[in-house]
Amino acid sequence: MSREVSEQSNCWNLSVSTGETYGAPTPDSITDLCQYVAPPEGIIEHETTELHGDNAEENFDEELLEVITTTAHTIVSRLDGNIASDCQDELAAWCDSHGLNSIDQCERRTIIARQAVFSLWLKASLYEWYHDRGELPSLGSDLQEAFQQAKDKTECPGFDQNVLDEVVHLADEAHKQAVVAQRHRLVNSTKPAVVIGRLYEALLSNDGRDTLGQYRTPQSIGRVMRRWATTSGDTVLDPGMGSAALSSPGFPGWMLHSDPDHVHGIDRSPLSRLMGTVTLTLVGQEHTTQTTDYLSIAPQQVSETVDAIVCNPPYVRYNELSTEYRATLNEQAERLAGFEIPGKTPLHGYFIYHAGACLSPGDRMAIIVPHHVLHRQYGEAIKRYLLDRFRIHGLALYDPKKESVFDTADTTALLLFLEASSQTEPAGTTRLISIEDVENTGWHRELQTDTPGTRDWGHVIHVEQPELQPEEDWSQQLKTLTVDTTNLTPLSEIADVTRGISTGDNGFFCLSQAEVEEYGIDNQHLQPLIRKVSTVTGYEYRSNDWRAHREANREAWLLYLDDLDEVPAELVEAKETRGTWGVANLSRDEPVQRSAGVYDYLHEAVPDITSTKLQNRAPWYRVDRRDSPQIVMPTLSRDGFDTILNHSSALILNNGNGIYPDPSLTQNEIKALAAFLNSTVGEELLRYHAETRPSGAYRITSGSLGDVQVIDPRILDPDVIADLAALFDELSEPGSDDGNTVDRIDAALADSIL
Ligand SMILES: C[S@@+](CC[C@H](N)C(=O)[O-])C[C@H]1O[C@@H](n2cnc3c(N)ncnc32)[C@H](O)[C@@H]1O
Repeated sequence: MSREVSEQSNCWNLSVSTGETYGAPTPDSITDLCQYVAPPEGIIEHETTELHGDNAEENFDEELLEVITTTAHTIVSRLDGNIASDCQDELAAWCDSHGLNSIDQCERRTIIARQAVFSLWLKASLYEWYHDRGELPSLGSDLQEAFQQAKDKTECPGFDQNVLDEVVHLADEAHKQAVVAQRHRLVNSTKPAVVIGRLYEALLSNDGRDTLGQYRTPQSIGRVMRRWATTSGDTVLDPGMGSAALSSPGFPGWMLHSDPDHVHGIDRSPLSRLMGTVTLTLVGQEHTTQTTDYLSIAPQQVSETVDAIVCNPPYVRYNELSTEYRATLNEQAERLAGFEIPGKTPLHGYFIYHAGACLSPGDRMAIIVPHHVLHRQYGEAIKRYLLDRFRIHGLALYDPKKESVFDTADTTALLLFLEASSQTEPAGTTRLISIEDVENTGWHRELQTDTPGTRDWGHVIHVEQPELQPEEDWSQQLKTLTVDTTNLTPLSEIADVTRGISTGDNGFFCLSQAEVEEYGIDNQHLQPLIRKVSTVTGYEYRSNDWRAHREANREAWLLYLDDLDEVPAELVEAKETRGTWGVANLSRDEPVQRSAGVYDYLHEAVPDITSTKLQNRAPWYRVDRRDSPQIVMPTLSRDGFDTILNHSSALILNNGNGIYPDPSLTQNEIKALAAFLNSTVGEELLRYHAETRPSGAYRITSGSLGDVQVIDPRILDPDVIADLAALFDELSEPGSDDGNTVDRIDAALADSIL
């Protein structure tokens, strides 16, 4: 629905099965004490609200936590035998939908008990809110009866019954009353979404919240998203509502003129729906809520009514979704997008496709997702969809290397500010905002301003939307490079770069000396191996380093087989016919005895191989061929990519990238190149081309490594080469002062090249 039309509309007429419309009193009837005059459009109050800690009022009370956990504790031991048999199935379904079945039984009981007591506290708080307004009598001691009457009288879905009501009745009366006595804490809070969300996170371990991706958005970020996406009069959809951190105004009873007329919250969990319902009721926000899978709602049912979407979708990886569910989502998303969508798309990706289809031209959406949508393979299709369907006003990326903005989730945060477009090729300026100071929310102003540049909290870059390409990593544009690369050349111009060997089953292919001797595997079937590039110490790796690894009985050998007589090329067949092949080769007689050991090994190992990669490879026992690389570098690193010269004949696995310099390069030129890659400048360039993992580590692919700009030793002054090579020798000297030598390499580069 367009924004213009929506200005007049303030009612939700969604006809989906489980939705219920509930009109909370308008702000005027709640209070006449604290009328709030909204700040001018685009200005957000409390610019520097902290992400972590907020203020004391937002912190839930330790006493409340204690009362809930103590009460829950009394339920845990009674949980098994005392639940009515007709509720057992319901409880099993609850565990299934909340992903609790995979959790240890003891923890599972604790989680259910805590959810039940928490639910009681929410209902009691909701009841109290109605009581304060004279709509319900005082809360009596028969809680079940009171909540049923409250439901009949108010029709508020917050009083709906579910299996947790059965569970909570296992607690002693005195404990239940102690919980109910805590209801005023929430009713008196000015930020119920924060209080509810924090308490829930404190009560449940991440394991208890992972399956549904139940992680709360910090209030300051939620506020930026809501204020950007919505205007007064809008009907706002909040899919995956949780405690309504995104769709509820922070200040109950204050009339924020940009706040929506109506919020429709959807959540798969009935408990989350209760959380959101309580929040929205307490803040006086008119709303409807619904317990359902958002992705099961037909977009056309809502697009007429919705004017804006605010969303923090569940971050659930593709392999944690069932195969059937994934197939359904994929088919549905392909229909909506009109092109092929990778099967490895995580759940939040499907939320993006779905949300896009729920909007009409002019409608806005603010959504927060992990930053790897910008560079992972599944993200390419999402970027294409965004470019096709939206005016992308802005992307704001919290520095992935810094502390997570989420209190209890170690994940990165990328905010997308989107407006559904009617144009076939939407155009306009996209603001790429990079936030390094996570405590500062002043960055939101950049969504309106016209001047890119560096700020004290980060930096902002402007690009015209048509310049953004789906296959590119947009986060590269968000990074800034302090290095002048004018005199540098891509590494791929002077070297081949290849990732190490992917065996498909390292347990089978990587062998220690003891295993080689046990089976008597002949050297002709083996190659020396650097098992893990990241564990190499120093900047040069020589044959004696490898020998030391071999003698320490590390996996220093790679089984490097060529075609073998009789061994079936297909793994499945090799397993099925194990007793029949290679029998003659097991003979210790000449001329085949040199292979006897390897056949012994294959016979013994083949039944245990389960790798699908080997099942799909023919012959299954033959790994890719590589020469030993002259330079090696780990693919993954947290604190920097050491560049190591390899003087041995050892091969590497796919935990490393191999660099094969152009044959015309002399040994000194190769050392000069290695000195450059180990310099501070080299490190900055490597990180610039690497992708950042959610953990904050860097990962560099061989393709990206080839793009790294480096010195071209072929055109440098021989004296500069000699100096850099000598500095590299110094760096690799055992016991050298690395920091000091790197400083001198930096100085040499600054003097002569950069
Ligand atoms: C990351 S949390 C966000 C909660 C809240 N909107 C916020 O920003 O703090 C995701 C929410 O989505 C809900 N959820 C998970 N899968 C869902 C689905 N398929 N449909 C609707 N809601 C879902 C979870 O229960 C959880 O409350």
